[in-house]
Amino acid sequence: MEKIQVSASRKYDIIIGRDLLKDTGKYVSQVISPCKVCIITDDIVYGLYHHMVCSSLTDAGFEVFRFIFEKGERSKNINTVSSILELMAENDFTRSDAIIALGGGITGDVAGFAASIFLRGIQFVQIPTTFLAAVDSSVGGKTGVNLQSGKNLAGAFWQPSLVLCDCNTFATLTYEIFLDGVAEAVKYGAILDKSLFDLLMLHGDKLFNSSMVGNNDCLSDTLIQIVKQCVSIKRDIVMEDERDTGIRQLLNFGHTIGHAIEKCSNYSITHGHAVALGMLIVSKASHKLGLCQTDCSLDIENILMKFNFPITCPFTSEELSHIALKDKKRAGDTITLVLPESIEHCYLKKIDISDLKTFISAGL
Ligand SMILES: NC(=O)c1ccc[n+]([C@@H]2O[C@H](COP(=O)([O-])OP(=O)(O)OC[C@H]3O[C@@H](n4cnc5c(N)ncnc54)[C@H](O)[C@@H]3O)[C@@H](O)[C@H]2O)c1
Ligand SMILES: [Zn+2]
Repeated sequence: MEKIQVSASRKYDIIIGRDLLKDTGKYVSQVISPCKVCIITDDIVYGLYHHMVCSSLTDAGFEVFRFIFEKGERSKNINTVSSILELMAENDFTRSDAIIALGGGITGDVAGFAASIFLRGIQFVQIPTTFLAAVDSSVGGKTGVNLQSGKNLAGAFWQPSLVLCDCNTFATLTYEIFLDGVAEAVKYGAILDKSLFDLLMLHGDKLFNSSMVGNNDCLSDTLIQIVKQCVSIKRDIVMEDERDTGIRQLLNFGHTIGHAIEKCSNYSITHGHAVALGMLIVSKASHKLGLCQTDCSLDIENILMKFNFPITCPFTSEELSHIALKDKKRAGDTITLVLPESIEHCYLKKIDISDLKTFISAGL
């Protein structure tokens, strides 16, 4: 078990290890005194891990309520948040009560946003159960929901009080869901850490089998190592730029186009898969348009192929640019993209919105 400390607008620990869920109550009570807690989870994770988490919290003296929503990106909306708020209000939750987000990135984003606005903000705990949530979304305090017009268009910065990351939960993921997290890990490698990029390249899809419960071989240790490396990078970035006005924007590598791909597919293409395509399109376009010194699109393509990501984008530059113009990264007539200079070096580039379609075309 390892603790990584974050010191942002709130100070908190990220605890990473195995077999942690059965002691959820113990870990949570170290930061939040026994109170009412609302476990927010989706219908799949509910069946897998709710019982263990709920019993442990009850044993530690918490009064447990629950809100279960239908899995998937289409539940990441304001109506889900509104139902959570009503449930807590009906049950007389006060400012000293808390939310527990048990699940993937969707659960964390929705639950965190509800925590940020209920009674103008209550504490919450992130318990990530996907590889993506472990390496990325559970840390850093970005919360929010999608609007009809696009991804993550409503939200708040609201840091958790604790992140409890039990890597044993990866054992029940499908390979497809595991891959979503791989895309974010590749992103960290590509923007800031070549050793991480190389480690992912070295092991490829073999890392997945290593996530099986009870598998304590070197490769599964490598997987946990990857979680720690990604979380440490994110921690450092968040501590430097919590509100996303500077270096944190690098974490959007592949995301402006990725979000457009998710939306164009009506969310049938999941976040990580869309980000993988987004990173590839941006890298190819940067090279073709002479915006980078070295061509790292081949490195990106090779690593994605090593994990068997689908790498063909089913949408046109017209479709993607139309949606991408609604992205949060647009300011007036420009949009800021993250472009790769080489592996481990990316930079922010403002592009005129009238050039976006041509840019995307160059990467398709
Ligand atoms: N806030 C941030 O900083 C941030 C960062 C990256 C991504 N995100 C957001 O995260 C979301 C994607 O997260 P995700 O990929 O975790 O999606 P998700 O939460 O939908 O989880 C993916 C699927 O895995 C299932 N699942 C979860 N844990 C499981 C387990 N242990 N075993 C078996 N099945 C399990 C879920 O039921 C779901 O069907 C997107 O909405 C994205 O925008 C947010
Ligand atoms: Zn992402």
